[in-house]
Amino acid sequence: MNIEKNTPVKLYMAPLQSYTTSFYRKAHAMTYGHMDKYFSPFFDDADTDLKKLKHHPELCSSLNNKLRVIPQVASNNSEFLISFADEAGKLGYNEINLNMGCPFPMLVKRQKGGGLLAQVDLAKRLLDSFFSNTNEINLSLKIRLGVTNTKEGQAIVKLANEFPVKELIVHPRLVAQKYSGVVNWDEFETISAISIHKLIANGDINSQQDAFKILNRFPNIKGLMLGRGLLSDPGLATSILKERNNQQLFTLHEHYYHLITNYFTNWNQAFNYFLTFWHYPLSSNQNFKRHLRKLKKHNKPKLYHDWLKQLNALVNSL
Ligand SMILES: Cc1cc2nc3c(=O)[nH]c(=O)nc-3n(C[C@H](O)[C@H](O)[C@H](O)COP(=O)(O)O)c2cc1C
Repeated sequence: MNIEKNTPVKLYMAPLQSYTTSFYRKAHAMTYGHMDKYFSPFFDDADTDLKKLKHHPELCSSLNNKLRVIPQVASNNSEFLISFADEAGKLGYNEINLNMGCPFPMLVKRQKGGGLLAQVDLAKRLLDSFFSNTNEINLSLKIRLGVTNTKEGQAIVKLANEFPVKELIVHPRLVAQKYSGVVNWDEFETISAISIHKLIANGDINSQQDAFKILNRFPNIKGLMLGRGLLSDPGLATSILKERNNQQLFTLHEHYYHLITNYFTNWNQAFNYFLTFWHYPLSSNQNFKRHLRKLKKHNKPKLYHDWLKQLNALVNSL
């Protein structure tokens, strides 16, 4: 694995109605530590009483106050969207997310959720109105590639470029695909070329390997949103971060190696610095300690690089 240097990747918990409830989010944070953001499952404008929002378990402070929760809403009604943002602001939230991807037929039929992707004029009026009336609360969008074709998503991405959208979370499937079928990362690439906004990638990121494949292909994205993969393996975010830390250790070594070998022309002198470099990072566990003991015998440049390669393989296998 070869992640770009110092990628400041953020990890978000995806909203999954009935699954990523505030109870689950809190229990997950208590067990695995805090993720960068947690998105609430969507509030549908058809059945949400804004006056009762503060008592709703998805947003009430006792269950949500210590986490960075982003309330999500499914609406194409600007008055509702603005009021939702106002209420969320009163409860201490500084960002809301507009659901533009949900494939539930009832929602799509009403031009909400994923249905909004095919209604660029309606979406324009909605965003125009939101951004002319709301300054305090950030708005991010969670989109798909379109309802039935990718031109729809591209039009929405271009529209979003006209507004100070906080970030764009992209699940690169069509609404018509619901939750299965191929995730189209080639089209994600097209979107990343069009969009001026920060992008978050979402969809079938089920393992560390999936995560790093995406991060290596799209080094400029801001983060990953994890859904079913995280629910199946609740430690997934932790293992992605651990992997990133491991890779950063090798990046640190690379910088250190160049500084040392530029300064000392004598290899033996330089090698003493590498011995001390690895001492503490490799003293934490028996497998590493065993590998550290072999270092003294790998005291020539070619041998040292072989030893490094084996160390990289060992770190990746644990
Ligand atoms: C049961 C279920 C409920 C979902 N509920 C929401 C939701 O409320 N809001 C939303 O934006 N996406 C919702 N999604 C979509 C997920 O947030 C995510 O975009 C999708 O599952 C792809 O990511 P994943 O492959 O990592 O799960 C839901 C998905 C499932 C399977």
